[in-house]
Amino acid sequence: MLETTSPNRAGGAPTLRPPLMMNAITPLAQARAELADAYDLAPSAAAAAETEELYARVASVIPAPDWMRHAPYVRAINKLKRERDAVILAHNYMTPEIYHCVSDFSGDSLQLAIEASRVKAGAIVQCGVHFMAETSKILSPEKRVLIPDSRAGCSLSEGIKPEDIEAMRAQYPGAPVVTYVNTSAAVKAASDVCCTSSNAKQIVDAMDSDTVIMTPDGYLARNIAKTTNKRVVWWEGSCMVHERFTAEELRAYREGHPGVKVIAHPECPPEVLEEADFWGSTAGMIKWVKDHRPEKVVMVTECSMSDNVAAELPETEFVRPCNLCPHMKRITLESILWSLHSGEEEVTVDPAVIDGARHAVERMIAISEKAKG
Ligand code: 13P
Ligand code: SF4
Repeated sequence: MLETTSPNRAGGAPTLRPPLMMNAITPLAQARAELADAYDLAPSAAAAAETEELYARVASVIPAPDWMRHAPYVRAINKLKRERDAVILAHNYMTPEIYHCVSDFSGDSLQLAIEASRVKAGAIVQCGVHFMAETSKILSPEKRVLIPDSRAGCSLSEGIKPEDIEAMRAQYPGAPVVTYVNTSAAVKAASDVCCTSSNAKQIVDAMDSDTVIMTPDGYLARNIAKTTNKRVVWWEGSCMVHERFTAEELRAYREGHPGVKVIAHPECPPEVLEEADFWGSTAGMIKWVKDHRPEKVVMVTECSMSDNVAAELPETEFVRPCNLCPHMKRITLESILWSLHSGEEEVTVDPAVIDGARHAVERMIAISEKAKG
């Protein structure tokens, strides 16, 4: 592995600094040199002209000089994914050049999981965080699943282990465990069923028990507890992006932008949702804006989602709070191109847990599809 040195300010021996990495495997400088050899990635008017139709989708949110830099990557990715028989699944939090210009399918966690189970291509490039790629592998074990950067984690997923599920079961004997998909395969396997932010209430209501354990998001659990007759108990995890929003901040948006509609994600604290006009999954929030076409709206969630919807709805004014998810932002055009080019990083799931995890995810999809009718 490459290492870089930096001069010691005190004049002593150079100190070793770890190299900057493209992903968890390859040093950035090495990956960039290989990509520059293999593709024409210099900003160019020719690449911008070739991708003109794609740029039209995002022109209201990406300035033209930035597109000059993106265009060569967009062109190379779209060509290479066809050559490699790959599809790109992108979460709603991807930046607009990924979401609108290279993805084959975009959606919330539930939609991405369902799509992963239907994919015909030989490979999936998951543009999202690691648990999403793992879910795709769980549902499509015969496919090659790549994530551009496996360091794209999630504070919820990292906050719980299988033994924590066992501890909750010991505390509430007989209560089923409903686990948010934002978890590792091992935690899913230790659970009875999964849920996402779009079906959590349906799943909790479908449990044949008065008490239901929800893990690992304490805020999602509190928010669902208010909507169901079940007694909900929970694990105290949280999303590092959504826990930062406050009710006071939402009131300030209303004061500063008279008439604004406020919509929020259920990973936010309950007092935040109480101030909102609507709350739902990322896909639910997008649908609400498209159905209601408010004059002004604030989407209380990760920043890129407003950009993605604003690109499609120029007549709506988006008030944009900016809480970035640093994990989602590890996925870039450059890391996607590297992933397709190098085959890094392939997602594997421990054979000892894959069947249990698949059972929990498939049970969720079955309950959710049945509820749709
Ligand atoms: P959605 O399922 O609503 O897309 O949520 C996933 C997520 O990680 C939100 O922070
Ligand atoms: Fe995890 Fe929160 Fe990032 Fe979603 S926004 S991936 S819940 S850290």
